[in-house]
Amino acid sequence: MRIAIVYTSVTGNTKELAALVHERFTLRSVDVEIFPIKQFPLNSISEYDGIAIGTYTWGNGSIPREMKNLFSKIEEFGTKRLSTAVFGTGDSFFPYFCGAVDAFRDMLYVRTNLAVTMKVEQRPQFKDVAKCSRFVECLLDQIRKELEVVSR
Ligand SMILES: Cc1cc2nc3c(=O)[nH]c(=O)nc-3n(C[C@H](O)[C@H](O)[C@H](O)COP(=O)(O)O)c2cc1C
Repeated sequence: MRIAIVYTSVTGNTKELAALVHERFTLRSVDVEIFPIKQFPLNSISEYDGIAIGTYTWGNGSIPREMKNLFSKIEEFGTKRLSTAVFGTGDSFFPYFCGAVDAFRDMLYVRTNLAVTMKVEQRPQFKDVAKCSRFVECLLDQIRKELEVVSR
């Protein structure tokens, strides 16, 4: 099972959330690769069974510029064999809370096998740890189901 977390972060909130998600995988003894978007080779998407995408939201509920190539790549080459999940941080002061998570969700739902989404208000708090555990469980369940189907 090969899984990647790919995230972007400017002020550190989404980076912290990505680290929490990564830690939850590690506690389940699942080895997961973690990449800031700038270090993720876009051509390697097809090598993964699961990808968890982490993003903050910018502008008027928009996807950050540095995430647009990843978005387009999956939109064009996504497959239902790829299990996905998306998480993000945002600020509910803005009219469109975590809009980038919703934009990824809508595309991933159509182009991939979307397992779960998660939104966190600004910096992750202690209560968000349990959300991260559930998030990881959902993605793992979906990947396992998909691998079972393939091996049949
Ligand atoms: C100019 C600007 C626009 C933003 N627009 C939104 C928005 O539309 N929706 C939202 O939920 N958060 C918005 N945010 C809040 C950030 O997404 C939030 O602070 C996030 O946690 C930052 O993540 P990071 O620390 O990983 O960079 C905006 C922040 C700034 C500075």
